[in-house]
Amino acid sequence: MSKPPSRRPSAPAANGRPNGPRQGHRPGGKGPGGKGPGGNAPGNNRPEKRALSARAAALRLLTAVLGETPRLLSELREAPWLAAMPAPERARAQRLATEGLRQLERCDRLLDRHLKKAPPLPVQNVLRLGTWELASGGAAHGVVNDWVNETARMQAHGHLKGLVNAVLRKVAAEAPAEWPKLRAPRLADWLREPLAEAYGRERILAFETAHAAGAPLDLTPRNASQAADWAAKLGGTLLPTGSIRLTGPVQVSALPGYDDGAWWIQDAAAALPAKLLGDVTGKSVLDLCAAPGGKTLQLAAAGAKVTALDISESRLLRLRENLARTGLTAKILAADALEHQGNYDAILLDAPCSATGTIRRHPDLPLARDGAEIGELIGLQEAMLEHALTLLKPGGTLIFCTCSLIPDEGECQVEDALARHPDLQVLRPTLEGIAPDWITEEGGLRTTPDLWPEAGGMDGFYMAALHKPD
Ligand SMILES: C[S@@+](CC[C@H](N)C(=O)[O-])C[C@H]1O[C@@H](n2cnc3c(N)ncnc32)[C@H](O)[C@@H]1O
Repeated sequence: MSKPPSRRPSAPAANGRPNGPRQGHRPGGKGPGGKGPGGNAPGNNRPEKRALSARAAALRLLTAVLGETPRLLSELREAPWLAAMPAPERARAQRLATEGLRQLERCDRLLDRHLKKAPPLPVQNVLRLGTWELASGGAAHGVVNDWVNETARMQAHGHLKGLVNAVLRKVAAEAPAEWPKLRAPRLADWLREPLAEAYGRERILAFETAHAAGAPLDLTPRNASQAADWAAKLGGTLLPTGSIRLTGPVQVSALPGYDDGAWWIQDAAAALPAKLLGDVTGKSVLDLCAAPGGKTLQLAAAGAKVTALDISESRLLRLRENLARTGLTAKILAADALEHQGNYDAILLDAPCSATGTIRRHPDLPLARDGAEIGELIGLQEAMLEHALTLLKPGGTLIFCTCSLIPDEGECQVEDALARHPDLQVLRPTLEGIAPDWITEEGGLRTTPDLWPEAGGMDGFYMAALHKPD
């Protein structure tokens, strides 16, 4: 495993503009795009006359992510047409859309062999989702028939049902032999280039392999000393850093321990920043960008007096629900971090970022985004870090972290802060289960999706503990 990046690469769009035109797997813009089956636009709020099928909803989600005004799947979670669906169908639709997006390049490679030109976007997305279903073991007859019927229902494109039938039949015949030969989907160029500059091309291939594999379900136990017991009870594995990992499909709310909040969902890498604070018993800790609250729960469970602040009321609602389920307590503030005043023993700043470390869970991110917002995010992170340092008592520790793979949102932020504040000290991480080569030159901790490949990887995260001398 190679060392984490130690030089400053250029962030994508550090000037606030994308590096060149949006690329990747977007269809050539030949079709009208943007309309879901039945002609209802994907992101709209119009109520449905009848609940959508899982396939129709997945199609609408895919078309929204890849349309002319790209939306993230997370932004569509509250869409009324999705909320109106029965929960199991909704979950099926979201799974199908997520996996279709994860494997988009592979689907397009199989389809390209049978298409002379790109059909309109909604039909192209029918073919992509059908291809993914066929490649992942769906029964050919049922999958092809259902997608042909879905196409027939499209007002503008119903006449293309014959094309869908012919192409999907060919895909069904060749997918078993050809799918395994296809390379892992590549990251979009706006992200691939700066990451290759920072980590080297070989690592990027490993990241892409990890992204294609998806992510298992990780849980953080409320009581660390019971982690092994819970791992056994849940049929999971205890990871070296203390998280519990479950593989295979599960209904989270039906698992033992869910109702009484014995654990919560949190990627193994995301569980590390709060642990960097060490013993927080009785300390006043400000969780500065707190929602939905995984790190707030950890700090509260560890005995800290937590103030959890976030600017988003809707995300704080989820934090409140998480606290209620676990029976843990924190003072909650809906406010702008940059305007908050106070004095704390410790601070955790999980700053807003590109979230490029979470692509295993959000394969839509590189497709729906183009890096244009990253320059602004880097400025916000710096401003938040500067302000947070003013809220820290002498002798206190501040954790800066982001779920980004881009060093400008991690290593470089801390290098710059150390240059601005020569009195700050970086406390080198000594957590159980971490490997020495995760530690960066400036003393932070870098995780990437290609770590622990046999165990199922982890999210990309950067974190550093900054100590303010007395
Ligand atoms: C990476 S997420 C935090 C995740 C959270 N720490 C956890 O572990 O669940 C970043 C958060 O920053 C919040 N945020 C963005 N700008 C903010 C601001 N100016 N002040 C406070 N919070 C802000 C967002 O609402 C978002 O919830």
